[in-house]
Amino acid sequence: MVDFKDIIANEIYDEALGLTLEEIRNLIEIPADEKMGDYAFPCFRLAKALRKAPQMIAADIAARVSGNEAFAKVENVNAYVNFFIDRAFFAGQVVTEVADKGAAYGRSDEGKGRKVIVEYSSPNIAKPFHIGHIRSTVIGNALYKLYDAVGFDVVRINHLGDYGTQFGKMIVAYRKWGSEEELAKDPIKTLLKYYTRFHKEAKEDPSLEDEARETFVRLEAGEPEEVELWKKFRELSLTEFNRVYDMLGITFDSYAGESFYSDKMPRFIQELKDKGLLIQSQGAQIVDLEEYGMSPAMITKSDGSSLYVTRDIAAAVYRKEHYDFYKCIYVVASQQNLHFKQWKKVLELMGYEWQKDCIHVPFGLVSLSDGDDIKMMSTREGTVVFLEDVLNTAVEKTAEIMREKQTQGVDIDTVSKEVGIGAVIFQELSNNRIKDYVFSWDKVLNFDGETGPYVQYTHARASSVLRNASEADLAAIRGGNFDWSYLESDSAYALVKLLYRVPEVVLEAADKYEPSILTRHLVDIAQSFNKFYHDEHILVDDENEKLAKLALVSASRTVIANCLGLLGIKAPERM
Ligand code: ARG
Repeated sequence: MVDFKDIIANEIYDEALGLTLEEIRNLIEIPADEKMGDYAFPCFRLAKALRKAPQMIAADIAARVSGNEAFAKVENVNAYVNFFIDRAFFAGQVVTEVADKGAAYGRSDEGKGRKVIVEYSSPNIAKPFHIGHIRSTVIGNALYKLYDAVGFDVVRINHLGDYGTQFGKMIVAYRKWGSEEELAKDPIKTLLKYYTRFHKEAKEDPSLEDEARETFVRLEAGEPEEVELWKKFRELSLTEFNRVYDMLGITFDSYAGESFYSDKMPRFIQELKDKGLLIQSQGAQIVDLEEYGMSPAMITKSDGSSLYVTRDIAAAVYRKEHYDFYKCIYVVASQQNLHFKQWKKVLELMGYEWQKDCIHVPFGLVSLSDGDDIKMMSTREGTVVFLEDVLNTAVEKTAEIMREKQTQGVDIDTVSKEVGIGAVIFQELSNNRIKDYVFSWDKVLNFDGETGPYVQYTHARASSVLRNASEADLAAIRGGNFDWSYLESDSAYALVKLLYRVPEVVLEAADKYEPSILTRHLVDIAQSFNKFYHDEHILVDDENEKLAKLALVSASRTVIANCLGLLGIKAPERM
C-alpha cells in the first residue's frame, strides 16, 4: 500500500542535508490543522548543518520536491514544508489495493512465526453461563481474531473452572436431594437449584460445609464415586456451554481447565518448597507477599487440597513448556486483578523470567439497565440472567423489528440471528473494555445508533447498490483502473482515508488488547459511507464516473465485512 511518509522522505532525501531516510521519515508530522496539509516536514533541525534559516531551507525543499503525482500541492509556510495528498491518486491506490486483497485486506504478517495463547470465556462448570460471562467470551474471541489477522499463530484456550471446593458442595447436594431424571431434563438449572439449596441449608446446618470439604478431598484423591459424579456434571455443563458458543460462532482449541492441572501440582509445591518460598501458616501453606504490598498467596489448604492460584501456576508453566508461547493473554474480569498480581509475583519469585509475557487483560462489569448490578445476580441465591436467554431475546426482538419493517426478500430466520447476536457482540466491544457498562436493549438494537445493526445495515446498503449495478459494471470494477478524479469530493476523500487506515487500526487494537479501537473505527467508516451515499449519485449515466464510484462502494463493502468478521460478527447482504 502507498506510504506517503516514504514518498516524502525519498523526495526530500539529499546527502547534503546530513539526515538518513529514516531520520527524515521520523521528522514528518501530521498537522493538527487540515489547512496545513496532510503531512508536514519541519526544517528546524537542518538549520545548523546547512547554516541557513529554516524558512529558507523549507522554501528550497518545497521548490525541489513539487511535482510528485502523490501530492496535489506542496507549499512552504514558515519553517515547514506542507504536503497535500492528491485525492484522486490516493483514492485509486486504496480502492485498487482493497480490490486486490479482498478478504485479506486489513491483515498483515507482523506476528509471523510466533505463538500467542488467548485464554478466554473459562466459565465455572455446573454453574449457569450468565450474562456476566459474555465479556470474557466475546472480547477474547475478538482478540483471537485480531492476533490471527496480524499473523500470529494463535491457540484458543477455555480454562474451564471445573475443579475446586464447589464440586464438593455440588456432589453433597446431589446425593441428598438430587434425581437423575430431573438433572437430565435441564442440567444447569437443576444443578443451580441444588447448589442454592445447599447454601440455604448450610446456613442452618454448618456440618454440611465440612461434608462438602471432605467430599472435595476425596475427589482430588481420585475416589471413583466422586470422580464419576464430577464427570457427569462436567459433561452436562459442557453440552450447555457449547450451545451458547455455537450461537456466538465461537470455538476453542483446548478445554484444558483447572482439573487438567490437578495431577501436575505436586511438582510445583515441591519446587516452591525447594526454593524456600513456602511458609506454614495455621496448617495451610502460603507464599508471603507482604514485602510487595499484597496478601499472601495460599498454595494449599490445611486439608491439603489445592487452590485456584496453585492451579494457575501449574497452568502457566505447562503452557510455556507445551506451547512455548511468545505471549499468553488472560481475558479475565478486573475483579481478579489481585489474583493475577499475586500469581505473577509467585512465578517471578520462582525464577520464571517469562512471566512478563503473561498478560492479564482485565475488563469492567456489565450491569442491567434497571440498575441491578451484575453482582446482585448471585449464583448462590439462584438469581441469574442466562446468556442463552439474552441471545434468544436479541434474536426474537430483531425478528420483530424486521417484520415491522417488512423488509423484502430477506430470510428473517437466518438474518435475525446474524443481526440479533451481532448486536449483542457489537455492544460488548463498543466501549473501552475496562469501563463498566450498562446493558440496555434500546441501545443494543437501535438501527440508527452506533450499533451492530447500523454497521450491518450499511453493509447491506452497499451490497444493494452493487446488486443494482449491471453485470458488466461489476465485472469492470474488479481490479479496474478508472478516472479517480471522480472521488475527489470531501465525502469520498474522508471515506478513502478511513479505509486506508484499517490495517494500522487492526494492529493497534491487537497491540493494546482493545477491540473497541476497531469497533469505533468501523462506526466511523459506516457513518462516512452513509454520508457519501447521501451526498452523491452513484449510478449516474456517465460511465467513468459510475465505475469509479461503484469501485469505492465495493471497497467499502469489503472493508466493512472484513472488520465485522474480525469482531466475530456476520455481514448479511440484505436486512
Ligand atoms: N473460572 C474463573 C471464573 O469464572 C475464570 C478463570 C480465569 N482464568 C484463569 N486462568 N484463572 O471466575
